[in-house]
Amino acid sequence: MNSSTSNLQSLVSKRVLLGVTGGIAAYKAAELVRRLIDVGAEVRVVMTAAAQEFITPLTMQAVSAKPVHTSLLDTDAEAGMGHIELARWADVILVAPATANFLSQLAMGQAHDLLTTLCLASIAPLAVAPAMNQAMWGNVATQQNVAKLRERGVHIFGPDAGQQACGDIGMGRMLDVLDLRLALAGLFEVGVLAGKKVLITAGPTREAIDPVRYLTNQSSGKMGYAIAQAAVDAGATVVLVSGPVALVAPQAARTLAVISAEDMRTAVMAELTGTDLFIAAAAVADYRPISVSESKLKKDATKTLSLALIENPDIVAEVAAQPVRPYTVGFAAETENLLGYAQSKLERKGLDAIVANDVSSELGGFNSDQNAAVLLYSDGASQSFEMQSKSKLARALIIDLASKINSTCRNQ
Ligand code: PMT
Repeated sequence: MNSSTSNLQSLVSKRVLLGVTGGIAAYKAAELVRRLIDVGAEVRVVMTAAAQEFITPLTMQAVSAKPVHTSLLDTDAEAGMGHIELARWADVILVAPATANFLSQLAMGQAHDLLTTLCLASIAPLAVAPAMNQAMWGNVATQQNVAKLRERGVHIFGPDAGQQACGDIGMGRMLDVLDLRLALAGLFEVGVLAGKKVLITAGPTREAIDPVRYLTNQSSGKMGYAIAQAAVDAGATVVLVSGPVALVAPQAARTLAVISAEDMRTAVMAELTGTDLFIAAAAVADYRPISVSESKLKKDATKTLSLALIENPDIVAEVAAQPVRPYTVGFAAETENLLGYAQSKLERKGLDAIVANDVSSELGGFNSDQNAAVLLYSDGASQSFEMQSKSKLARALIIDLASKINSTCRNQ
């Protein structure tokens, strides 16, 4: 992997708000969107009125596969993703091309249309790619505006020198699309899991008894979903296989909704190819009814009901037993002898690591927003994590696991 490819990995799952203003280089914005999506960025486009004279919102919608935002005072758009929500959504705002007029409005702090308002309302890093006639670029007014913006921390990408659309030769061409993409990638750190595919199971499974009843457990999915978000933030491509939960999945993760342990197994096995790290945070039902009644079970005179159960496939053990397999991490939810039982699960299931969590504690475990854990590795190393929010714990677990995986790769 060369350094520019690895730099581009910092754009995986990044939310790029692309502002397009009214210059001839606006036609290159469509290509820019495609190239950003190629490397895993999510792109939403905002166009000024003048930009729409050069390239249509329909083109930008087609290339970004997202609605294009054009107006500040549009009730329909505000009912969908309003301007403040859009400003919060962005990890970065890139205005390309940025005309001399736009740079002047930005330098003055104007908020007279959607794009200028977003630039004021967002705390995300802001980058502009100036594109204009060479004389306009050289004008002292433009240069003062650019200096002011630079002083405020706005990133100025380009412009380039060369032949211009108007026939002039000089500074003012918009930076090449691939160079712009590289410059944008340089604003972000490459995450600790950049370039890795991470497969995560989360939540409970439901094992049907009859059309209206099932066996399940207390898992809310919070721990698994927090791990999925932490892996996304670390630059990984994330696939989340989730049992039935009432949570919103991380936007950048590909989520596969499943119901039963057998469904979960099928989804996991189908996703194994190319997976570098598998984290089994789901609370999978160990057993399911041998047969599912086609009609609702009725009470009978004996006042008892016996359910014959059969063991479910052990998903994490099956993954760990594959000849070519990802780094495989299980969870152990225990109410007693935490480390002893977790260690024996680690060995019995052939895992690389296991996260032992004490679910007897009132503070953590099932359905809580917090958790404490001990991460045990198969080589005998371990790491304790005190009680903290599941989001924080997930980030800490991902950092520890990534450093283990990366050092294991280096030593091979
Ligand atoms: O979802 P939350 O409310 O946030 O709660 C989080 C949690 C407590 C559910 C989670 O942190 C946790 O501990 N998950 C694993 C719970 C569990 O079922 O552990 P287990 O000891 O039964 O299973 C051990 C490991 O084998 C787990 O990684 C489990 O996903 C896996 N397993 C178990 C059975 C099975 N048939 N297939 C499996 O893959």
